[in-house]
Amino acid sequence: MIVAEIVHHRHQFSMAIHHQFYTVQHSLPLLLLLVIQLSSLQFHSHGYDLQNKYFINCGSSSNAKDTESGKTYVGDSSQVSYSKGSKTESNQSSVPSPIYQSARIFPSQSFYEFPIDTAGTYIIRLHFLAFTSPSNLSSATFNVSVPNFMLLQNFTPKNYTKSPLVKEYYVKISLGKFRFTFDPLRFSFAFVNAIEVFLLPRFLIANSVTGFDPQPAIGQNSLSTYSGVLTRALETKHRLNVGGNNITSSADLLWRTWFLDDTYLIDGQNAKSSQYSGSIPLTAGPDDDGPNANSYTAPENDVYGTARWINVTSENITWSLPVDKNVNHLIRLHFCDIWSIQADLTIFGMYIYDQFALLIGDDRNVSNKLPAPYYYDLMVQSDNSGFFRITVKPNSSAKVLRAFLNGLEIMQMVDSSDLSYLEDHSNGNTSVLPVVLGSVLGGLVLVALVVIVLVWRLKTNKQKPVEGSDWLPIPATAGGSSHSRTSRLTDGTIQGSPLRNINLGLKVPLQDLQLATKNFDEKQIIGKGGFGNVYKGVLKNGMKVAVKRSEPGSGQGLPEFQTEIMVLSKIRHRHLVSLIGYCDERYEMILVYEYMDKGTLRDHLYNTKLPSLTWKQRLEICIGAARGLQYLHKGASGGIIHRDVKSTNILLDENLVAKVADFGLSRTGPLDQHSYVSTGVKGTFGYLDPEYFRSQQLTEKSDVYSFGVVLLEVLCARPAIEPSLPREQVNLAEWGILCKNKGILEDIIDPTIKGQLDQNSFRKFSETIEKCLQEDGSDRPTMGDVLWDLEYALQLQRGAIHREPHEDSSSSASASLQLPNVRRLPSLSTLSEVDDMSIAMGDRSDTADDSVFSQLKIDEAR
Ligand SMILES: *[C@@H]1O[C@H](CO)[C@@H](O)[C@H](O)[C@H]1NC(C)=O
Ligand SMILES: *[C@@H]1O[C@H](CO)[C@@H](O)[C@H](O)[C@H]1NC(C)=O
Ligand SMILES: *[C@@H]1O[C@H](CO)[C@@H](O)[C@H](O)[C@H]1NC(C)=O
Ligand SMILES: *[C@@H]1O[C@H](CO)[C@@H](O)[C@H](O)[C@H]1NC(C)=O
Ligand SMILES: *[C@@H]1O[C@H](CO)[C@@H](O)[C@H](O)[C@H]1NC(C)=O
Repeated sequence: MIVAEIVHHRHQFSMAIHHQFYTVQHSLPLLLLLVIQLSSLQFHSHGYDLQNKYFINCGSSSNAKDTESGKTYVGDSSQVSYSKGSKTESNQSSVPSPIYQSARIFPSQSFYEFPIDTAGTYIIRLHFLAFTSPSNLSSATFNVSVPNFMLLQNFTPKNYTKSPLVKEYYVKISLGKFRFTFDPLRFSFAFVNAIEVFLLPRFLIANSVTGFDPQPAIGQNSLSTYSGVLTRALETKHRLNVGGNNITSSADLLWRTWFLDDTYLIDGQNAKSSQYSGSIPLTAGPDDDGPNANSYTAPENDVYGTARWINVTSENITWSLPVDKNVNHLIRLHFCDIWSIQADLTIFGMYIYDQFALLIGDDRNVSNKLPAPYYYDLMVQSDNSGFFRITVKPNSSAKVLRAFLNGLEIMQMVDSSDLSYLEDHSNGNTSVLPVVLGSVLGGLVLVALVVIVLVWRLKTNKQKPVEGSDWLPIPATAGGSSHSRTSRLTDGTIQGSPLRNINLGLKVPLQDLQLATKNFDEKQIIGKGGFGNVYKGVLKNGMKVAVKRSEPGSGQGLPEFQTEIMVLSKIRHRHLVSLIGYCDERYEMILVYEYMDKGTLRDHLYNTKLPSLTWKQRLEICIGAARGLQYLHKGASGGIIHRDVKSTNILLDENLVAKVADFGLSRTGPLDQHSYVSTGVKGTFGYLDPEYFRSQQLTEKSDVYSFGVVLLEVLCARPAIEPSLPREQVNLAEWGILCKNKGILEDIIDPTIKGQLDQNSFRKFSETIEKCLQEDGSDRPTMGDVLWDLEYALQLQRGAIHREPHEDSSSSASASLQLPNVRRLPSLSTLSEVDDMSIAMGDRSDTADDSVFSQLKIDEAR
């Protein structure tokens, strides 16, 4: 373990040298700054550091030593801050441990706040014991939450008057102050006896795990990749030392407790338990990823050295564990073959809900020197039964008939919550200051070292580092950490949305992106823009992504970068491109999106070798994009104006489902506000709303105008601006309106679709364009109306409905007028179409589909 740590640090140090080597060519002040930056970088990338821990004895000014773990819990007045609350001491003659001797009581909403100087995933534990005291703790009822997650709801410790309840969670925490909020029920109060907060070793929980669906839909694979585990909070539900004994917190490096599995066994009489006589060797270092276990994975001799097994193929060992219904759980299974002398002989099946999930024993990633401890993670949704059923069963074709399990952990995904009071949680620069100061001191020492090494390096190595071009001088305002950098970025384009709300859970390490894009290989480039390049990449979990990397150091696009993260981390929608993550490490600004196989809408319209889209496909794409925009305007997070709607910002996935992309220019604001005062006209020439251009008043109707241009583009298959054409034809919007007015719009439509066009569908479509392109924003329809019209045009094209000749072609397509007509039509018989229509009303459950919940759904779908 010690050896591994040294290697780890050495690696970082050589990074430092690399870094210095290039920048030394700039000036010395820069070097200094850089070292400051660097040392803080090193500081934050520490794998596991016992300094990042809090064990708090609540309601007491003195320390208490826990009987079980032997850890000292510090009185709560010394390290953390908390709101005013009374404290109480136990009247009870004996409590299980001195840490339960006292509690802090909160009569109203209150908090405990912990300074965090290392971002990462933490274990947090809350201890409750309703000991007898004048305050009658068993009458307390309260909620406990942390940023974004509700940990306990209407919790009452009634049942824990004699032995304590310890709730354990895994939560990602960012730099600054980490706050537990206690919310008592009316006329009640909250209390807590002890709190633990400490950083997890780096790879103990992976961000991407295998997803298992016991009942996959037809044609679907039961296994998938589930990523984003670390953006969610997990609650430990079960931790079992299968076939062994209870393990107390003192025997576990992370102070976890492990329980017997006996009570969960079904028909366990044939399952034998075994214990290994020697000690279990570890092949993985503390910083290694799975599947091989390391010293933090579990107490190796206690967990991996004991197991339950069976050797008859007609039988199996099944555990049934109570869990919440229909919730995602991270299941961690620990295995170690403590009988065989040779790997690969014992191969067996692992089942969940009687469905085969994994073959155990033939993984090449597992060390083949036995006994080899390893583990697998599976993300599985519990079913309706309220239990997980997990089975191991020998495989009749294996050379050695045996199936076994050594340990089992089940962690439940915690519901996320958006708590408004988190707003007044101040997270200012003060919290960064100590870090920066520390960095300066550390930096000075490092400067000396680095200079020495540099001189040596310059003499011995003339080669420029591979990534040299990535290193750019630091802007003088850049702080010592990514956190301070984030705080600095405030821009007028975001109204009323404090930047601290940025979803830090989406952060992706630069290293992963370098790997994904073959170190930003030019061959991976799939797009270029003013901001920089877009690369195609494949993440470690196999997910295809589009990586948008801004030109390093351009200093441009910072607000756009921020806006995009803000907007996209708040909203998820089928017709909006999903943000997978972002990276602001070093001087990079990188956004990672879901990969859209079919590229941009424009790619399919003109100047292309791709097959021409049919009219129906085009309508469907327009409808999809309109839905996305309508959601931006009116959806749950509402009031977002895209500001750069164009055919290159509408992307298509492999099924030609349209998704709106590029929210860099978008603006958010309260919906009730009629218009926004703009600081500068932004958008793309040819799509720009002339009214907005004149008045600089930005409204949703500007997006409607731009979308009208896109509709024309789709119809005519030509660019919005084509300078080579005769003057009146250069601007598509103007030309289109001119043709429409003259009644010759049909003459300029894309010849490849001319024959397919249903006349009524075309008429509806061209009317929609005309309305979108009205001079006056107030004359333009809303995105909801546009969506409706397009749906209607599609129905007309499908021949599902026939427009009556008397119908006024210029009537506004308000849903209230036309929906009943459509609904009554007999040809609209299939359920899916009816469903489609109701979606078109723009009142789907989309609105309820808020942020993280729908993010979860999307994640699951992947
Ligand atoms: C304490 O509160 C519990 C739950 O409200 C109640 O059942 C019990 O009678 C109370 N005990 C005392 C001593 O007030
Ligand atoms: C407390 O224990 C009782 C009896 O064991 C049980 O019925 C009840 O559900 C428990 N209440 C809570 C809040 O756990
Ligand atoms: C506690 O949480 C529940 C469920 O989220 C909520 O309905 C209730 O209002 C919360 N109570 C307090 C006091 O915040
Ligand atoms: C299973 O193991 C037991 C010894 O524990 C042995 O007696 C029995 O024959 C084995 N059964 C099979 C099918 O290998
Ligand atoms: C395990 O054994 C039980 C009882 O024989 C049986 O009902 C169940 O289907 C078996 N499970 C698997 C996965 O084979």
